Order: sequence, then C-alpha cells, then structure tokens
Amino acid sequence: MSDKKMMNDMTSAMETKYSNLIVLKSNAVKSLHVNVRDKRSTHVEFKKFADRLMRVLAEEALAACTIEQATVWTPTGLEYSGMRPNANICAVSIVRAGDALLEQVIACEPAVSVGKILIQRDESTPDKRPVVYYSKLPPQMSKFDRILLLDPMLATGGSVKKAIELLLAAGIAQKNIVFANVLACPEGLKAIFEAYPEIHVVTTAIDPKLNESMYIVPGLGDYGDRYYNTT
Ligand code: PRP
Ligand code: URA
Ligand code: MG
Repeated sequence: MSDKKMMNDMTSAMETKYSNLIVLKSNAVKSLHVNVRDKRSTHVEFKKFADRLMRVLAEEALAACTIEQATVWTPTGLEYSGMRPNANICAVSIVRAGDALLEQVIACEPAVSVGKILIQRDESTPDKRPVVYYSKLPPQMSKFDRILLLDPMLATGGSVKKAIELLLAAGIAQKNIVFANVLACPEGLKAIFEAYPEIHVVTTAIDPKLNESMYIVPGLGDYGDRYYNTT
C-alpha cells in the first residue's frame, strides 16, 4: 500500500472513530504542508508557510464556532443561506506555539476576547510531562458561546489536557470547546477524546505516530523552535 493511501485510510478511520473531529483536506492545506514539513525551509520560509496554513485553519476553526443560521438578500435580489460568523468567542492560546495561531485568529476576527495558558513539556521526563506555569483567562468565561483553544501541535495530548482541565474549572462546558490544531497523531487524539468525548477538534493533518522522544513522525520537528527561530 502506498504511503499516501495509508495516511488517507488512517485519517478516515480517525474521523469514523471520533465524530467531533474535523480534518481539513483542501489542496491548499496539502500543498502548504509540503513546505512547512521540509527540513530545508529556513526560519523565514517556515514562518511564511506556517502562517498561511494557520490562516486557513483559523477560518475553519472560527466556522466551527458558529451557532446561528442566517438568510440574507444579495444585491441581485436573491437569497443566500449559511451559518453567520460568530464573534462571541474567547480564543485561548497554549503559549508559546499557540500564540502564532492566535495571531491568525485575531487577524480573521479582531473582536475575539483572548486568554493565555503557559504550558511547557518537561523534555527531561520520559513521557514529556506538561507543566502549567501561568493562566490568565477573562472573567465570566461562561458568557462566551465558544472557547477556541489554540495549539499547533498535538503529540501525547498532555499539554492540551492540562489546558482543558483549566477551562472546565473556569465553568466551560466540554461541548463548547473547539480545539484548533495544525498537526495531530492517533495517541494525542485518543488522549483527548477518551478524557473529554464532547470536545470538538479541527486539525489540518494526522500523522501515523509518535517516536521515542514523543515527537510526531514524520511530523515537522519542533513547531515553536522553527517558528520563533530558537533552534
Ligand atoms: C509543544 C507544542 C504543544 C506540545 C504538544 O510545546 O507546542 O504545546 O508541545 O505536546 P504534547 O501533546 O505531548 O503535550 P512545547 O512544550 O515544546 O512548548 P513551545 O510551544 O514553547 O515550543
Ligand atoms: N512539539 C512539537 O513542536 N513537535 C512535536 O512533534 C511534538 C511536540
Ligand atoms: Mg517546543
């Protein structure tokens, strides 16, 4: 079986298993992944293509936060129906890499409120245990229709699970959380959906597995380091 067919089959299997999972499949997404994953891409090239990819993801994740159907009249006198864009959202980034995605969300919808959670994997532990250093969320989190949780990488799922714990403690219902992610893997998706089956996940790709350092493979390396030029 070709690698491409194996990846497509694995993605379809994940979508069948998890009904709250959306995997983007446009040609734009697939083409941007080529340059984002290329180890020869310089920091500037990586940032350029990652920003373009995250802009697409930001629009799709915002679309997953819509709650209201609307019908409008077009200038030709005819009707058009669809889901109305929703700005009653709190975007919460998992710092540091999540901040890159936050910029794209704000560029699409400047009216969102913003929260931040600083979580870092402890790379000295074998399971890359996440450590929560800081959390700043707006008051009355339950007033938002949706919480858009942002982190480009879903590896073991440890970091995002810690962030979800904090959101639930702030009074958010699982079903109102949309997690926007650039690259996931089966281990991370299993960790999220087993703990929080009602969460929604929008991702641009699922890779087959983690390696022994808990990095996604084939993956793209360390997103934060490549984006912020700290390798
Ligand atoms: C990376 C990434 C995610 C996390 C994913 O963050 O940005 O937050 O690892 O791994 P997990 O699913 O196994 O928890 P890192 O701790 O390297 O910090 P950074 O964003 O500052 O690079
Ligand atoms: N964090 C990254 O940036 N990349 C991985 O593959 C895993 C965690
Ligand atoms: Mg990192």
